Amino acid sequence: MNKQSVGKLGLFLTGLEQRINDNVQFFKKINIAFKSGTKEFSGVVTLEGDKLIFSFNGIKEKMETAWLSARVSKYAESYDSAVITYEERGITIVIEADNKNVRMKTKEASEEKASKAHSETSQISSRDYFIKVGQADELLKEIGILGENGKVKNDMIRKYNQIDHFVELISDTLKDLATRYDTLNILDCGCGKSYLTFVLNYYIKEVLKKSCYFIGLDYSGVVVEASRKMALNLGYRNMEFKVTDIRDYRANKEIHLVISLHACDTATDEAIALGVNNEVESMVIVPCCHRQILNQYKFQAFEPILKHGILKARMADILTDGLRALLLEGLGYKVSVVEYISPLETPKNLMLRAEKIQEANNAALLQYKQLKELLGVEPELEKLVYK
Ligand SMILES: C[S@@+](CC[C@H](N)C(=O)[O-])C[C@H]1O[C@@H](n2cnc3c(N)ncnc32)[C@H](O)[C@@H]1O
Repeated sequence: MNKQSVGKLGLFLTGLEQRINDNVQFFKKINIAFKSGTKEFSGVVTLEGDKLIFSFNGIKEKMETAWLSARVSKYAESYDSAVITYEERGITIVIEADNKNVRMKTKEASEEKASKAHSETSQISSRDYFIKVGQADELLKEIGILGENGKVKNDMIRKYNQIDHFVELISDTLKDLATRYDTLNILDCGCGKSYLTFVLNYYIKEVLKKSCYFIGLDYSGVVVEASRKMALNLGYRNMEFKVTDIRDYRANKEIHLVISLHACDTATDEAIALGVNNEVESMVIVPCCHRQILNQYKFQAFEPILKHGILKARMADILTDGLRALLLEGLGYKVSVVEYISPLETPKNLMLRAEKIQEANNAALLQYKQLKELLGVEPELEKLVYK
């Protein structure tokens, strides 16, 4: 392949390196097929512990994730074309490269789609939706859930299920807060395109017939601009969207509820800390990827099983959220940890609900301290709340 194509391929592969690091618990493998004339040469990259294993031409090579791009690009120089298929749970990414072009396509993993259980959940279910098609059409169309034909778009069914479940799980909290405050002020941390803000606003205003004000925070100017545009199109004036790191935001009004859906890694901690530091009484948080503790924790007795990367990663998820919940209890919150949505919809399916009930809980604080010492970890949340 020519230099230009190999260079472009290298860039896409660097993106995959990052993706492997970010989604280590979902990574499956990368199939690589090089072609020269009519002959095909295939290889595969798998993960063992924290190292990649590249099997090609009968040779197995162990390497750091950060070497993937350089190594595969080097091989690509000797062939006419390459098809690289990256698979993780839920997603397949295909890179096709030849001398003319280098293209990348992302598709939902057909394997999961084909599974019966998955197809059962990734469709409009028979449950009674909180944000109903037929009633909230203007909103659902504007945020891209409904197509012009008035039907939920196929690729938005999951999102629709996710946000509607979120409304369902916090409806009691909203009803309770709405009886005590004239206007509910809600902070959406890592708001993205603000689906949550829009549907919760609809639910509070149109269904509960209460007043509310939303502040959406995201450090991506693109999604903030998109959210502002949607609010303008819908004529919603009771919301604002700010381009900011959650960490840097200072609330200038009393906030009653902090929400966060899939804010990445320690952005979840920033959202929780923002709530704690501003004495917000309610928080509903669905964490996303968990990287911080994965690289820190050690527990001698578990070593024989933690040598398997997937188990180490899953345990890190549990420890991260468990320590978050325990620290919040220590800080005087009543915490419930619930399954937010079927794991077949998304593996990031745990919801933390916290409600301030007392100044502090010293017994829980002690348990938290002992546990983190046992594991040798320094959770981000603690650094952010203990200022
Ligand atoms: C996976 S998206 C979720 C978006 C939205 N909550 C949803 O569920 O559709 C995570 C969002 O968090 C934002 N984000 C991540 N870390 C952040 C931080 N530290 N401060 C502000 N925004 C952050 C990203 O830009 C992205 O828009």
